[in-house]
Amino acid sequence: MQQGDAVYKTDGLVISRLLSVLLISIIYFLACVFISSARQVPAGSQCYQPNRNGISNQAPPPDCQVAQPAHMTASGHAEGNPAAKYLTDLHSDDEGGSVAPWTNDSEGEDDMANQELTGNDAGFADDCSTLSRPDWWSTKHIHFKLEVDFTNSVLKGFVELTVVKQTSEDANLVLDSRDITVDRVTLLDGNHEQDLPFIMGKKADFMGARLEIVMPIKKAPAMDSAIVCVYYSTSPNSTGLVWLKPEQTAGRTDPYLYSHSEAIHARSIFPCQDTPSVKATYTAEVTVPEGLTVLMSAVGGGKEPSVAGQTTYRFKQKVPIPSYLVAIAVGKLDSRKIGPRSHVWSEPSLVDRAAFEFAETEEMLATAESLAGPYVWGVYDILVLPPSFPFGGMENPCLTFLTPTLLAGDRSLANVVAHEIAHSWTGNLVTNLNWEHFWLNEGFTTFLERKIKGKMLGEEHRQFAAIEGLKGLQQEIMTRGVEHDFTKLIPNLKNADPDDAFGTVPYEKGHSLLYYLETLVGGAEKFNPCLKAWIEKYQYKTATSFDFQKFFVDYFGKTLAPDVLNSVDWEAWFHKPGFPPVDLHYDESLGKECTALRERWTSCGSDYSKFSNKDVAEFSPAQKMEFLAQLLLEPPLSVETLRALDKIYDFSATQNAEIKFRWLRLCIRGQWEDMIPQALAFAVEYQRMKFCRPIFRDLYAWDKSKDIAVATYKKYQHTMAFITANQLAKDLNLVEKA
Ligand code: BES
Ligand code: ZN
Repeated sequence: MQQGDAVYKTDGLVISRLLSVLLISIIYFLACVFISSARQVPAGSQCYQPNRNGISNQAPPPDCQVAQPAHMTASGHAEGNPAAKYLTDLHSDDEGGSVAPWTNDSEGEDDMANQELTGNDAGFADDCSTLSRPDWWSTKHIHFKLEVDFTNSVLKGFVELTVVKQTSEDANLVLDSRDITVDRVTLLDGNHEQDLPFIMGKKADFMGARLEIVMPIKKAPAMDSAIVCVYYSTSPNSTGLVWLKPEQTAGRTDPYLYSHSEAIHARSIFPCQDTPSVKATYTAEVTVPEGLTVLMSAVGGGKEPSVAGQTTYRFKQKVPIPSYLVAIAVGKLDSRKIGPRSHVWSEPSLVDRAAFEFAETEEMLATAESLAGPYVWGVYDILVLPPSFPFGGMENPCLTFLTPTLLAGDRSLANVVAHEIAHSWTGNLVTNLNWEHFWLNEGFTTFLERKIKGKMLGEEHRQFAAIEGLKGLQQEIMTRGVEHDFTKLIPNLKNADPDDAFGTVPYEKGHSLLYYLETLVGGAEKFNPCLKAWIEKYQYKTATSFDFQKFFVDYFGKTLAPDVLNSVDWEAWFHKPGFPPVDLHYDESLGKECTALRERWTSCGSDYSKFSNKDVAEFSPAQKMEFLAQLLLEPPLSVETLRALDKIYDFSATQNAEIKFRWLRLCIRGQWEDMIPQALAFAVEYQRMKFCRPIFRDLYAWDKSKDIAVATYKKYQHTMAFITANQLAKDLNLVEKA
């Protein structure tokens, strides 16, 4: 090649780049003119348009054309329009390695928007569960201004996203959304707001819809920042929000709202980069009917009266957090102080029971700090939710959410608090980069939870809890199948709903790996400092399993014999389905009495004369659970034996939901027909998925109770959180399984 050729080619490239920039600018200018002309309103009419000074929920005057973004159809899909065309042109013109081209989220052939957006986008490599592009613009701060509308079951207002450019190429702001209606998007510049074109992609099942906001071209240099304001409302069917009518609450006088975002439901609550790889601080102003209290996963900043009959609450979360940790609850609430940095909140009728149940919170916090480092979140409050809450607990920062099924009256189930406290480090400070590395959140947290227990009660209690956990893992592996991808520590979530993958594996296989490593390096004395150092290194960041592997190998590289260090089969631990690759040994001293009693029952034939209530009088609730858990692993008991068990130990009368759950499962396994109504009543009342899903599944598997299980589900489905109703529908074969 001659030198002249090269010069010519370079010049040609420069000229063609210049031409395409010019062309893009013209198209963008035309798009803006088109949109602003569509927004014009009759002269003199005062038209409703969302703006930052106030969230108006008043209907526009009849003579006012409501400003609809020009490119939105009634269904929320983009139509053939200059903005969409601009987007396609911008990126299809793009040669070689600048902004990645477009995802093809088109399914319906007649959908103009999706035809135009057809491309071969590689997506965001770090997280296959997001449609957003944090590699283009990344969110650093979020400000919410929202009104909670109980009449229509929607949140309405705006969210201001402070975003920072991650590439020097032209790039739009791409967010996740699910069942969100966007009214307007603006760029904030001081007090001035510039309208920005946007496109709502087509809804793609659990992933939701991509919201693409056209950023002005001059916002180009990397690290440039912008504040984008999205005016929006949620849908009454938002999968991350649970709206309860007054009759679904304990007090029966006021409505109630709570959110649940993990893993990917935050996008149904606000447009966001719904990936744990992005962490942002947040502030919020939330307006609710007077008399209701708002709590969020942040530090409260007081409240003030708002427009007639309304109150506005303020919040600030100064630690950067992923979207799944943004949480809200609104209801008639009361609180009790339970420690120097803690209050417990619940509906008024439960609050004293809750204060008693969780009185050990401060001791747990202090123990956790001794293991993991300082607690950085300021406040640690607890909210006890209504019984439809789908989980045992959720580690929302500053405000753990708990199921009321923990209110056993004897503090025996407070390990869930220890677990959620532990998340203040593992999960909330060191966060899994994506949901395939979820064990970094839950396995580490389970490990830390049991360490807290061990320090507070004695090592044998930690070991006992680990044995119980391993049983749960065994059961799940048997149910899913030893070859199932979701039994891997790192599952493949491409095209998979994280809700479907959720189970015991990340908790217990993750715990098993850490326990194995602890034993390998010479016990807790050696391993505890490694745990603390891991947290210190990765706090405020995100991590993958491979980061941990490298960290561990580096940490012990100098002190551990190479053959010991090299003996860890990371490949098998991370990628092999089924049981952990190594057999683990735990101290069984606390389980011995449970095993002995179980053996007496399984070998007694029909002679029950030697049993009495004294057998279990000295048992802790955890030992009763273990006794029943062991019986559940045996062949089904006869109805006669079940009757005897109940008569002697009175399991049916227990107030402890964990004991009752195992007891009811045992009865169903033994086909004791009289117990079907009790089992159904329990599953409908306590909608914690850990309880209601196995009970519904057991009842469905037995021909005597199959139909009533389906009928009961259909009757109570509307009282359930989306995630519960959705998973139960799969369990009961009412919809196709993944
Ligand atoms: N973060 C989880 C709950 C969760 C996980 C919700 C994944 C949605 C998706 C929470 O910390 C948790 O693990 N809760 C357990 C507590 C138990 C292991 C002590 C629960 O709900 O049972
Ligand atoms: Zn957890």
